[in-house]
Amino acid sequence: MAMFFYRIGHFMTSSNIPKSILIATGNKGKIREFEQLLLPLNILLVKLDELPFIAEPEETGTTFHDNAKLKAEYYATRSGLWSMADDSGLEIDHLKGAPGVLSARYGGADASYSEKMRLVLDKLASTTESERSAQFVSVIALADPSGTVRLIAEGVCRGSIADAPRGTHGFGYDPIFLPAGFDRTFGEMNDEEKQSLSHRGKASIQFIRKMSDFTGV
Ligand code: IMP
Repeated sequence: MAMFFYRIGHFMTSSNIPKSILIATGNKGKIREFEQLLLPLNILLVKLDELPFIAEPEETGTTFHDNAKLKAEYYATRSGLWSMADDSGLEIDHLKGAPGVLSARYGGADASYSEKMRLVLDKLASTTESERSAQFVSVIALADPSGTVRLIAEGVCRGSIADAPRGTHGFGYDPIFLPAGFDRTFGEMNDEEKQSLSHRGKASIQFIRKMSDFTGV
């Protein structure tokens, strides 16, 4: 029944103008941020919990681009909706870009973020401040209902890894990430301040600009 409904939705939205977009992520932190960041689009955002019949894809790509495209294509073809996926992560220079695309799985998929952050801090234990440089990366892909990727946007936020987790805002590695020029972690910033600096905030601005090709806004 649900599939039937979304197939109808497919025909309603299969023109060049998306009337709604599926936010293809189960990560509650990302969903909350996108709901705020994409407000200027003035478009209906559908969440994955409305489509529980779609199983999660395996993220087999080796780059953020590959995984963002893979997820957008996968969810678009199964939902019949325009679908956007963000693949993102933390790259630490001293660890040759790790955890990178494996950020969500670092230390094991079941490891808590306290454990993942502890692992990062342990690996950086013998480093000097200048060796703790890092960046957050976000790549957003938008696929049309046929599964064709129509748009890619990306954002990078440079910074460094703090000595210890600080703050309770945000999600994931936010408590150990100091954006460049700030002595407070993302975990110590409210949503608005984080989004004005963050990788996802920058990628969303580019995404909205490129979306004007479809919507004319
Ligand atoms: P994926 O894109 O679903 O593979 O997972 C991205 C992972 O990168 C998240 O689960 C977090 O561990 C991390 N990550 C991405 N963006 C952020 C952010 O804004 N703050 C903290 N951690 C993030």
